[in-house]
Amino acid sequence: MKNILHIISSARGDQSYSQGLSTAIVNRLLQRGNINKVIVRNLVKQAPPCADEISIHEFYKHPEAYDDQSKQLLSYADMIVDEMREADVIVMGTPMFNLGISTPLKMWLDQLIRAGVTYVFDEHWTRAGQFKGKKVYLAVASGGRSIDGTPDYISDYIKDVFRSYTGITDIETYRIEGTMEKGFEADYESILKDF
Ligand SMILES: Cc1cc2nc3c(=O)[nH]c(=O)nc-3n(C[C@H](O)[C@H](O)[C@H](O)COP(=O)(O)O)c2cc1C
Repeated sequence: MKNILHIISSARGDQSYSQGLSTAIVNRLLQRGNINKVIVRNLVKQAPPCADEISIHEFYKHPEAYDDQSKQLLSYADMIVDEMREADVIVMGTPMFNLGISTPLKMWLDQLIRAGVTYVFDEHWTRAGQFKGKKVYLAVASGGRSIDGTPDYISDYIKDVFRSYTGITDIETYRIEGTMEKGFEADYESILKDF
């Protein structure tokens, strides 16, 4: 039985197409069966903390040096690390904002990725990701449409950050494009026809 972590990062609630597409992916996975539970982490309803001077210091401490204040400052980070550990499949929705991922998703990543936790260094100072074998589905909503040959900053970034700092390499991207076009209607079925 598998656990799904569903990450929502659009502020538009039920109007959001990235939430709609990521929910459609979760529903497909549920239909396939063998799912134990779905954890929903809505990054807008509960925003990740901003990395500030004191919390950044805690991020670089050796776990043996943690004190009560560290536990408090790292409580959100520890919670989302536990959610990632527990998940076999991560379904992540993001709007495209100025060609990049949403702000809350970036804040979530900055809380999640941690030396000694999501990756460790081996004796040759090579990073070894600690979350190998998990699967990520990325659902991206954009007002415009992609043009062949232009950079795909969102998908490339998510793939690189997960590969480099968590060891996750199995990442599939689904896109809902042209959401700001006049008369636009979401057709999740056709986007997921090969799912
Ligand atoms: C601040 C802002 C920046 C945006 N930047 C882009 C962009 O760079 N490219 C694009 O195609 N659409 C852009 N859009 C449109 C959104 O990607 C589009 O509305 C999308 O459907 C939002 O995702 P959601 O429906 O999940 O909220 C932008 C919208 C906002 C509000």
